Amino acid sequence: MLSSIALPLLALASTAFAAAGDGDWTVAYAKATTALAKLTQANKISLVTGTGWEKGPCVGNTASISTIGYPALCLQDGPLGVRYAQQVTAFPAGITVGSTWDTSLLYERGYALGSESKALGIHVQLGPVGGPLGKIPAAGRNWEGFSNDPYLSGVAMASTINGMQAAGVQACAKHLIGNEQEKERDTINSVIDDRVNHELYLWPFAESVKANVTSVMCSYNKFGGSWACESEALLTSLLKNELDFQGYVLSDWAAQHTTAGSANAGLDMAMPGDNFGDNNFLWGTALQNAVSSGQVAQSRLNDMAKRILAAWYFVGQDVDYPTVIGWTSWNGGYGGPDVQSDHKNVARSVARDGIVLLKNTNNALPLKNPASLAIIGQDAIVNPAGPNACTDRSCDIGTLAMGWGSGTADFPYLIAPLDAIKTQAALDGTAIITSTTDTAASGASAASSAATAIVFINADSGEGYITVEGAAGDRLNLDPWHNGNALVTAVANVGKPTIVVIHSVGPLILETIVALPSVVAIVWAGLPGQESGNALVDVLYGSTSPSGKLPYTIAKTTGDYGTAFQSGQDNYAEDLYIDYRHFDKSAITPRYEFGFGLSYTTFSYSALTISALSTSPGSSATIPGGISNLYDVVATATATITNNGTVAGSEVSQLYIGLPSSAPTSPVRQLRGFSKLALAVGQKKTATFAIRRKDLSYWDVTAKKWTLPSGSFKISVGASSRDLRLTGTLS
Ligand code: NOJ
Repeated sequence: MLSSIALPLLALASTAFAAAGDGDWTVAYAKATTALAKLTQANKISLVTGTGWEKGPCVGNTASISTIGYPALCLQDGPLGVRYAQQVTAFPAGITVGSTWDTSLLYERGYALGSESKALGIHVQLGPVGGPLGKIPAAGRNWEGFSNDPYLSGVAMASTINGMQAAGVQACAKHLIGNEQEKERDTINSVIDDRVNHELYLWPFAESVKANVTSVMCSYNKFGGSWACESEALLTSLLKNELDFQGYVLSDWAAQHTTAGSANAGLDMAMPGDNFGDNNFLWGTALQNAVSSGQVAQSRLNDMAKRILAAWYFVGQDVDYPTVIGWTSWNGGYGGPDVQSDHKNVARSVARDGIVLLKNTNNALPLKNPASLAIIGQDAIVNPAGPNACTDRSCDIGTLAMGWGSGTADFPYLIAPLDAIKTQAALDGTAIITSTTDTAASGASAASSAATAIVFINADSGEGYITVEGAAGDRLNLDPWHNGNALVTAVANVGKPTIVVIHSVGPLILETIVALPSVVAIVWAGLPGQESGNALVDVLYGSTSPSGKLPYTIAKTTGDYGTAFQSGQDNYAEDLYIDYRHFDKSAITPRYEFGFGLSYTTFSYSALTISALSTSPGSSATIPGGISNLYDVVATATATITNNGTVAGSEVSQLYIGLPSSAPTSPVRQLRGFSKLALAVGQKKTATFAIRRKDLSYWDVTAKKWTLPSGSFKISVGASSRDLRLTGTLS
């Protein structure tokens, strides 16, 4: 069944949202049906087949069809900004916006991303990323996504997609599914139990479909023995039938393997068309022949074309959409308009509010007019050769503000931590001593001449087609790069109060650092994008209290995570127990748990209320996202959050549920709601958690459906997954 788009909650958002397209699949399909009737067979083939690698301005392109006013479709990376373009904003990466836990910022970043794409004439922006989900902490591309918790990732996907599509661009939820490591990504067979898939890996994609995402990218790997882009079980049964996905599936670049197999499985668009310039098109004429010979039904080709057209109408790209002028990916991205507008403000807000304060002994932070500061480490400065010196950010030189690979953008500028600190220091009359290499001895020497030391370290990763310092996408370990532990140790051993700032793609093992008595503060600054230094100064000096919370667990040792890279086949043997679900089940104490983050103020939690569980069955119709009643709010919990400290701040309160014993064995607790509230000193507000039927259900593998277990649910509300302040039951 087709449905209208849900209006976003924000007033600002809904105004903007209404502007793009009909936002109604029924209307979009009616237009698509009319347009389809005017197409020749050759038109239909060109609609579904990419023109070939580097044959057009974008990383993916299809041909125009003048009879229906259809443009040469331009599909471009990526999830944090427009790749291969100049004068665009390099936003913080997914993992850093995930650590804000702020749905408004997620939406605003999505809207800004979509606006920049649209202004450049890009029709499809290849993001956001719901897979990898991040079950393996060292996996190369985890930072492109938002969190390894499916609920947080799902909210982040939906908010981002709503923003992007309101701005007028088609979003693309990628990569479906089982691309959880870069190692052997083109060949590995991901064998995922049906319950695990529904409750973890498919969840963010289901939420994307619910948010009316117009396209989905299937991944390189195999899924249950078939190529993901040739898996009928995945593309047709799960995505199109069960989730009622109305848009189209496009292949990851050259992830298609056969002509008829991919078409019959449910692939709708072959990208980039050929295999990276080899001129070998599996669709194009080959698809036309397959249809003529009956290997692929005409109705399947019509369906592909209709889905692509409907998506185009859905976001309103048939009306006054800009055309790509003077800009192409293949000339360094020069020649396009400046599309940045005031988006640096969103970029800075996200980078600032994504910072997670992990340690702050005796209120070492915020800094209070220090007489002198030693700024230590190469991560404090921009790569001396320039922030874009390495193509697709294929080096870890200078401050880290995004990982490497296709999910990157060129920086219009990059504010180095050192430069932003110097600006503040000049106002404060603070002397700055620097050591901007990772050499331990010179770091220690700088620290010995200052009152306080700030050491910068990082850890990088990316996509597997590039190897950086021996890492072929995936990280080699969870240590800081460039002997960061040795640098911090040498500096801390000088004995001055030492603040450690970390830019990282994901968790690090911090045991060496936390054991050093002089390390008074640890600031987790993620992958902040172009506004890195400014955002950091906002927090270091306390103009904003830190409010980010970890979107994953930081363990004491790598082995504690219970997952590892696999070869050949990955059976997902860790089952439902990734990240905090595993730590809780196995009673492992993490260093910093999922959802953790300090503030400069304190918050109290009180007055938990939990409504009764609704008995209304709701509608069993199928809508985008699955059965309609899964998304009905069946219970509401509220809690009062009070800022009982001394400065203003924002608190992310989190709601976790435990399923009743009538359910099959399940994680101890699972995130099923969160709320971020800005609170002045002494102010209190109500955090409201709307709990949907799906949030309380498990996937029954025998009945093949979501099932609401009988009995009472444990409800906990707290400041992290282990700092649970209020508990109650729902029944
Ligand atoms: C391969 C990557 O996996 C995908 O994320 C990207 O969008 C395409 N290449 C196009 O660059």
